[in-house]
Amino acid sequence: MSESDGSDGYERLFADPVRETMDGATYGTWRAITAPDAVSLAFGFPYPDALPNGKINEAVDTLLEADHEDALQYAGGDYADAITETVVERTRARGIECTEAEVHVTNGATHALDTVAQSFLDPDDTIAVEAPSYMGALRLFRNYGVDIEGYAMDENGLDVEAFAADLAAREEAGDALPKFLYTVPDFQNPTGVTLSVDRRKRLLELAETYDFLIVEDDPYGQLRYDGTTPEPIKSLDTDGRVVRVDTFSKTIAPGIRTGWVVADEAIVRELDRINAGGENVFTLGLIARYCEATDFEGDLDGLRAGYRERRDRMLESLEERMPAEADWSEPEGGFFVWVEFPEGIDAEDLLETAAEEGVTYLPGSYFFHDERGSRHARLSFSYVTPEEIDEGIAALARATRAELPAVEASDD
Ligand SMILES: Cc1ncc(COP(=O)(O)O)c(C=O)c1O
Repeated sequence: MSESDGSDGYERLFADPVRETMDGATYGTWRAITAPDAVSLAFGFPYPDALPNGKINEAVDTLLEADHEDALQYAGGDYADAITETVVERTRARGIECTEAEVHVTNGATHALDTVAQSFLDPDDTIAVEAPSYMGALRLFRNYGVDIEGYAMDENGLDVEAFAADLAAREEAGDALPKFLYTVPDFQNPTGVTLSVDRRKRLLELAETYDFLIVEDDPYGQLRYDGTTPEPIKSLDTDGRVVRVDTFSKTIAPGIRTGWVVADEAIVRELDRINAGGENVFTLGLIARYCEATDFEGDLDGLRAGYRERRDRMLESLEERMPAEADWSEPEGGFFVWVEFPEGIDAEDLLETAAEEGVTYLPGSYFFHDERGSRHARLSFSYVTPEEIDEGIAALARATRAELPAVEASDD
């Protein structure tokens, strides 16, 4: 390989979308945002005690006993077969009518989104996303060489009428319409906001009118700490327009890498074909066994209590400590608060001072496919203790105040 043609000599061999995104992707940078002794409000991870190590251990033991010949075989045993039934039960518990033929099980939501993208996207297709949107999904969609159109959000989620106006304008101008809209309707990552029911219904109408799919990614919907739960978009879908992605990452554990798609049978058939042979049957058996043995709803109550305490502490601490010019979302569930810094503050620049003061977070720009988001940050309350959250917000407030005089002076 010659050293002179870039990318350590492999550039000619990489696929176009890989070559085109090589330098631009910010996803993954969060791993580097650690500072010794700083509180991490960057990680959207479950807190350590939320992870059910003991119960997983028991499930492994009983699985190996019950399916002792097959649990570790290629096709897995009876429990691996039972995972689809488990997922149907979990899906019906969310008010969604669903049969086994409408379920495709994956190695997590990320894998599910990738499979959906692989199934529907050609290079130069257009997709619609919320702006901001989950950075893992943005990273993944970029790999397919598609045009990404981002639509603004407010406190009720995606601004659906602005989206509708743009769809009409595109049709009028003969521009490409999206193959799908990607949305995180409940406690969105990164803003924490929830899409209103009226908007969910309107989106379904638009999907029908302009012939696109809605990819509903819902890892946080069951982690609601107050208020009432809106129906999942899939539960309102009478026409097979919604491809729903869900995961056990936030309700059991992310390390088990188990998620799924619920969609029309004709779609699921193709997803099954694309991923044939890639299932982690041991883990699927483990999760089916785990769900059989566990009080899932009772465990969710425990998780909700743990996250609610953290969410409350973050909101109280922001109220008490941040300068009046700052603003933030007030999520009713999920893992994240979205902060808007006072005008003139750039969240990427502020990160260094914040880390010195003792806190890290993810700058808002990571969640946009374009140049937006410089005044915002995503704060995660899911991973650290309530006391650490308070320390982290105190550090963030100190860093913000330290930058304010510079901002005010430059306004003079
Ligand atoms: C909106 C959203 N989708 C998908 C994922 C990834 O889920 P999984 O761990 O199942 O791949 C996350 C995780 O943070 C997320 O926030």
